[in-house]
Amino acid sequence: MSTFLFSKAKYLSTIIHLIILSHGSSASEPVDPTQGFVSLPLNRSYYHIQKPYDVPEDRRYSFCDGVHKCWVYSTDKPHTRTSRTKPCTEIAIQGYGYSSGTWQFEGYGYVPAGTSGVCVMQVFGASPPHSTTFMLRVYNGSLMYYRRTVLVDQIYDKWFRLNVIHNVDGSKVKVYIDGHLKLEADGRGGTSHAFKCGVYAQDDDSFYMESRWRGLQVLKKNH
Ligand SMILES: *[C@@H]1O[C@H](CO)[C@@H](O)[C@H](O)[C@H]1NC(C)=O
Ligand SMILES: *[C@@H]1O[C@H](CO)[C@@H](O)[C@H](O)[C@H]1NC(C)=O
Repeated sequence: MSTFLFSKAKYLSTIIHLIILSHGSSASEPVDPTQGFVSLPLNRSYYHIQKPYDVPEDRRYSFCDGVHKCWVYSTDKPHTRTSRTKPCTEIAIQGYGYSSGTWQFEGYGYVPAGTSGVCVMQVFGASPPHSTTFMLRVYNGSLMYYRRTVLVDQIYDKWFRLNVIHNVDGSKVKVYIDGHLKLEADGRGGTSHAFKCGVYAQDDDSFYMESRWRGLQVLKKNH
């Protein structure tokens, strides 16, 4: 009898605890944006490193203890001899080029203090005159959507979880930082897309630019 009463009391307290939890989970609780998505295999068969064409890869990229580190200098050459783009060192996941469906990039990123005027993650491909659907940039310690909207004020020297969801058919991009929805933006057309992360110099770029990445995943929505 007493055992019965005890387990009943425990059951009730569990219910009360769950009610409190669900009330506390309003705006401030992080969500897992990967729910409903399937993670795809990802290894070097699916990506390559874009880096200044005249230096060896290991002078601008390293992969150590599960951490990808990409760096580039504002005075570096573009990634091909004929390209006229600014310098970049990027993990280009072109093995998962896509043109329809809903795709997601997940990664834990880190940007050291001083790195500025740089794109650290992009959804490549759009309708001309654009060439990207989404850019995550860093200016003076702020994480920004292009140079338009601040997503996080102080991003230097800490790891953050990034989830970028690109619904191609619905032409929408959703961005989560640390499980919080920070941006919903329109797509910019285009028929061929790929995710890239690393450093790609933009305007007012610092001399040295670096970002680190771990836990990279490409996911696709289940239908
Ligand atoms: C990468 O993963 C694919 C799919 O699992 C596999 O077929 C391929 O051999 C792997 N490549 C390397 C370089 O590990
Ligand atoms: C970053 O700081 C520099 C120097 O103070 C300034 O010129 C530049 O406009 C700033 N950039 C942004 C996006 O605020």
